[in-house]
Amino acid sequence: MLSLHQSTGTVDPDSIRIVTPRLLLRALRPGDLFPLAEVANDAEISRWTTTVPHPYTVGDAAKWIMLSRSLLAAGDGLPLAVVLGQTLSTADGRSHAAGTLVAMAGLILTKTQPRAELGYWVGRDFRSLGIASEAAGAVIDYGFGTLGLARIFAGYFDGNEGSERVMRRVGMTAEGVRRCEARKDGVAVDINGYAITRSDWQARRQGPA
Ligand SMILES: CC(C)(COP(=O)(O)OP(=O)(O)OC[C@H]1O[C@@H](n2cnc3c(N)ncnc32)[C@H](O)[C@@H]1OP(=O)(O)O)[C@@H](O)C(=O)NCCC(=O)NCCS
Repeated sequence: MLSLHQSTGTVDPDSIRIVTPRLLLRALRPGDLFPLAEVANDAEISRWTTTVPHPYTVGDAAKWIMLSRSLLAAGDGLPLAVVLGQTLSTADGRSHAAGTLVAMAGLILTKTQPRAELGYWVGRDFRSLGIASEAAGAVIDYGFGTLGLARIFAGYFDGNEGSERVMRRVGMTAEGVRRCEARKDGVAVDINGYAITRSDWQARRQGPA
């Protein structure tokens, strides 16, 4: 649960823990520095996002750990590290221990309105295992169930089929192209918009009548 300290209006980042069948979502912390620098150093992540550089250095990881914790503390966002909640075997036959940092998922909140933008990426070795869908689904549940949001939106660049699949899998629906919505490599680019409203989410939880 969100732990809001009424006197200061700040959130303790380490109080947020979202548990799913295979994953734990929690705040990044200083001990994540080298694992984050390693898993985020991937041209594919940078290609499909606006904020993750490539190469991704230890300095980039240090800045993101500090920024993500301050977003959480100020209640401006819910950027969470996705770590394994149990041992996981990947397609190459390797076994990864509980606690391994495999992805990021989270929300950027709009302070004046009950809406947030969902974002996520998954480390190369951990893709196509349902991790983005599981983590994004948990973030959406938290956004509506705990934060009381009315709407969660997301978007992908043309060609990112995997991300579109994730959006559909978590119950979002297409809302059309948001033209020149983002700046990527110095150029304004279109975003394919998806969203889920609180009533969509409630209907999905109730299941078919
Ligand atoms: C897109 C991304 C987040 C998907 O993560 P993932 O953990 O592999 O996704 P999941 O395993 O939950 O897969 C969800 C669905 O997408 C499909 N999928 C995953 N990657 C795909 C790809 N590259 N092409 C087509 N479909 C893909 C899966 O087969 C699955 O399909 P299903 O619903 O029929 O079962 C991951 O590839 C990634 O981090 N890419 C780089 C960064 C990025 O694109 N971030 C999102 C920016 S909008």
